[in-house]
Amino acid sequence: MKEALILAIESSCDDTGAAVLRGRKVLSNVVAGQSVHEKYGGIVPELASRSHQQNIVPVVQQALERAGVTKEELDAVAFTKGPGLLGSLLVGSSFAKAFSMALNKPLIEINHMEAHILAHFIEGETPPPPFPFICLTVSGGHTQLVKVSAPDVFEILGETIDDAAGEAFDKIAKIMNFPFPGGPMIDKLAKDGNPDKFAFAHPKVPELNFSFSGLKTSVLYFLKKEVLKNPNFIEENKVDLAASVQKTIIDILMKQLKKAADQNGITHVAIAGGVSANSGLRAALQAQNAWTSYVPKFEFCTDNAAMIGIAAHFKFIKGEFSDQSSKASARLEM
Ligand code: KG4
Ligand code: ZN
Repeated sequence: MKEALILAIESSCDDTGAAVLRGRKVLSNVVAGQSVHEKYGGIVPELASRSHQQNIVPVVQQALERAGVTKEELDAVAFTKGPGLLGSLLVGSSFAKAFSMALNKPLIEINHMEAHILAHFIEGETPPPPFPFICLTVSGGHTQLVKVSAPDVFEILGETIDDAAGEAFDKIAKIMNFPFPGGPMIDKLAKDGNPDKFAFAHPKVPELNFSFSGLKTSVLYFLKKEVLKNPNFIEENKVDLAASVQKTIIDILMKQLKKAADQNGITHVAIAGGVSANSGLRAALQAQNAWTSYVPKFEFCTDNAAMIGIAAHFKFIKGEFSDQSSKASARLEM
């Protein structure tokens, strides 16, 4: 029997995504970003939902065209239920519900954070991690250590008590006057910098949790002090600053990840979410010889609908469908 053909929609934050999957294979994966937020140095929720509203129809159309399928051929439509910005989630969920009703197709609701992790199961050249594995999920809104025992069994071992890792990259980049989102820019500059030039203190957090707001504050005070002495300090030192900040964030993440893997006796270790696109973090993970490490393809790290589609694939197999009463949920737990 042919595997299910699923249309997946992602609209949790500032990227409008649509993808078509046949089983674990991605037939198309379209993402429309939103440059409208750049000048504000962060995502403006009201503008994000308006842009989703403008983008959703053409993005879905393109995904169907690129996959070479008609909407009638689809076996189900999946969407991101949460977590995320409510106004953004409502656009994707309303669209999916209307689509499902008009075409009489089953509806599948997906947790965005689970989808980031399940992106590892998209068909590709590398084998997916075997269960159980540990996943460090790092995005603009979340930083979590998760023990994954099955496609629908997730145990959160630890998480951030304040800012997310991506938020730390973005807020520190903003202090240095880099464009939003700052993570990719810090990554790029860090390649030419000395990661040991500036030292920033590590937070003291219990168990397997994280904290990044202290780092942001110490970078802010350090730069204020240096800029008073030399107004060009940031410009003159930007590559070393980027490299030092990036190293500190990676060291904080890797320390807790190692602890989690050791405590659970698990050697299959993965990363997921937007910050897993970071070249320093990818290298740090792959340098752990005691582990088999799993790093997603770049296009499946930052927000995309293919990951929603793979998560829906597992739900389709189990017959886990929802109905028109399904609601978007900004604070959806795993
Ligand atoms: O998963 P994602 O696309 O959206 C959320 O669900 O939040 O993650 C976005 C985050 C942003 O904070 C962005 O700066 C960060 O991922 N990011 C990076 C890199 N690429 C994206 N951070 C560091 N290095 C990168 N190369
Ligand atoms: Zn995300």
